[in-house]
This record gives sequence, C-alpha cells and structure tokens, in this order.
Amino acid sequence: MAYEIVATGMAVPSRRVSNDELAQKLDTSDEWIRSHTGIGNRHIADEHTAASDLAVQAAQSALHMLVERDPSLGGSYEAALESLDMVVVATATPDFYGFPSTACLVQDRLGAHRAGAVDVVAGCTGFIYALETAAGMLALKDSRRRALVIGAEILSKVTNWQDRSTCVLFGDGAGAVILEKTDAPTKGQGRRGLLRSILGSDGSGGEHLILRRGGSRNPYRAGETLDLPPVIEMNGRAVYNFAVKAVTDTIDALLTEEGISVEDLAWIVPHQANARIVQAAAKRFGIPEEKFFLNIEEYANTSAASIPIALDEMNRSGKLHRGDLILMVGFGAGLTYGGNLLIW
Ligand code: ACO
Repeated sequence: MAYEIVATGMAVPSRRVSNDELAQKLDTSDEWIRSHTGIGNRHIADEHTAASDLAVQAAQSALHMLVERDPSLGGSYEAALESLDMVVVATATPDFYGFPSTACLVQDRLGAHRAGAVDVVAGCTGFIYALETAAGMLALKDSRRRALVIGAEILSKVTNWQDRSTCVLFGDGAGAVILEKTDAPTKGQGRRGLLRSILGSDGSGGEHLILRRGGSRNPYRAGETLDLPPVIEMNGRAVYNFAVKAVTDTIDALLTEEGISVEDLAWIVPHQANARIVQAAAKRFGIPEEKFFLNIEEYANTSAASIPIALDEMNRSGKLHRGDLILMVGFGAGLTYGGNLLIW
C-alpha cells in the first residue's frame, strides 16, 4: 500500500501587512526584518476569524481539486466529502483550548459525516507529525482510505504586537492535503507516496517557545485582570540554534535511512520560520539554495500551516511532477522536529 497526496489547498486572510506597515507602529524596519528573516509580508486575520475558518477554506479548495482529479467521484463534491475517513488538524492556535477539537469543528462545517476527527499539537512541526499520524490511521484499518490533513493557525491572536522580536515573525494561514491509501508500489520502479518519516522531540527546550497562560499549569483565576492575552514567549537565539541542527540532522537522517543523496531530491520543503535557518542548513550540506522552496517573503511563519501552504503553491504552479522525490522538514515549539520523505 502507498500513502499518496492526491490533492492540496490553502487559504490566507486577505489582509496583507507589509514590514513597512509594522515599522509605522514599532521600532523596526523593512531592512532589519528582511535581512534577519527573509520576511516581507504576512497575512493577518480579522478579529472574527478563527483557525477552523481558514482550515475549512483550505480543505474546500483541496476537495475541489480531488473532485477534478478523481473520475470515480463523478464530479460530485458531496461524494468527495463522503469519501473522507479522517480529519486531522495540526494547530497550536485551536479555536478552543482543550475541546472541542478544531478537527471536529472542521468535520462538522464541511459535512464530512463519515470521518473521525483529531487535532495534533506539535508546534510548527505539526503538519509533519499529522501526515505520519494520518498515514498510520489509514494503515491500521482496511476500510480507511482517505484522510484530510490540515495545518491551520491564527498566530496573530497569540502574538504580542508590542514585542518587535517576535511579532514581525508570524502570520496566519491554513494548508490542506488529501492523503489517500492506494495500490501504487512503495518499492522499486514507479513507487509513490510517503516513504518514511522522522519524528523527534526535546521537551527540555519547552521554555524557549511557550504560551504560558491559560492551561492547567497557569490557569486564569476569578477576578484576575490581565495586561496581555496569552502571547508567544520566545528565546529566539536558542530556537535558532536548535532549528539549524534539527533541520540538518533530519535531512541527513532521512537521506541516510533511504540510502540516497541530496542530488536525488527534487525539492526540500522546509518549515518557513526564517530564511537564514534554511541558508545555514544549505551551506552545511553544500545544497544549492534553489533546492529549498521558500515563500516566507509573502506569508512569514504560519507554524503548522507553512508546509502545506508551500505544497499547495508548488502543486498549483506546476513545480511538482509525478515521481519527484520531496523532503519536508520542520521544527518548532515543544521543542519538536521531524521530516517526511515522499515521492509525488
Ligand atoms: N527590528 C529591529 N531590531 C530588532 C528586531 C526587530 N524586529 N528584533 C530584534 N531586534 C534587535 C534586538 O533588540 C537586538 O538589538 P541589540 O543588539 O541592540 O540588543 C538586535 O536586533 C539583534 O537581536 P537578536 O535577537 O540577536 O537577533 P537575531 O539575529 O538572533 O535574530 C530572530 C532574531 C530573527 C528572532 C532569530 O533569532 C530567529 O529567527 N530565531 C528563530 C525563531 C523561530 O524560528 N521561531 C519560530 C519557531 S517555530 C514555532 O513553533 C512557532
């Protein structure tokens, strides 16, 4: 059995905020942000939009692509929905803390009546974990064939907009893929789909990237007044050092396990956190930077959404061809890291 991505979709809020716009309210500049991160813009949701809203839009776009590409659906969007066995949502900014899960909200809004639904929480590595989780769920039951796997975030609502060292980095968005269990070969000529994944963590670094308030460790108390809603607290230097090592170690391990070299890869799709992290990894391996797909200039860091957004942009712009070997690699809060190797 192979586990193939058969459709993709994405959604970002229409409001686009440039570095120059941030520089009007903060002591920062387009030059500093671009030179330190590669970020030029980010898309920011309005106050009424939650993660599930963007997730539903991205999912609908992927479902429409599925309808176009799978003749057995007879052109029916309803049939595409009925064919979903699982909805898996990776998010660090769920609509509600704890429950209901964002996946359940998406399942209901879409009308995916047959599907189970679950959230995956692994910070910016969420999509890497979610893809492997979904493949495992499909593998464990013959009758499960299709999973909708989404990364969706509204980071703007957990961002301290007075803190220039974090607020310039993040954006909102969602990306979705449909993962299908197929009869394609997984070995030898013509093999396709997910080949292998690496999922790693170092919880000792949890303090370096944390949303401290609101959970069972630091609950809100009756009568308490807050200066700020819960916001991302980050030790940027520590996360940067962790990220460069995580990216290089994960690429190295996936290539070694598979017995291939960098030249065999068509694309590396990294989590879009900072272009300098990618440049450092590229330098360490001697990989041409063009092999890494980067769209951070437009969207900034959208956490668990960044890799599926990148996949959808690549897919729709004709950058992905059947048989291409693609390596996705991520890192983030937890701390977590990981990667997936797949043949398109
Ligand atoms: N504009 C202007 N100056 C700034 C800004 C800004 N937006 N932010 C920081 N500075 C200043 C600092 O105050 C400091 O000034 P000082 O030297 O006078 O004290 C100077 O710039 C250098 O600051 P550093 O923090 O050392 O800058 P650095 O080069 O390390 O870049 C950055 C900071 C971009 C945050 C980097 O450390 C980084 O990218 N870290 C990784 C962050 C990351 O990827 N986080 C997401 C992880 S994924 C997830 O799960 C959410």
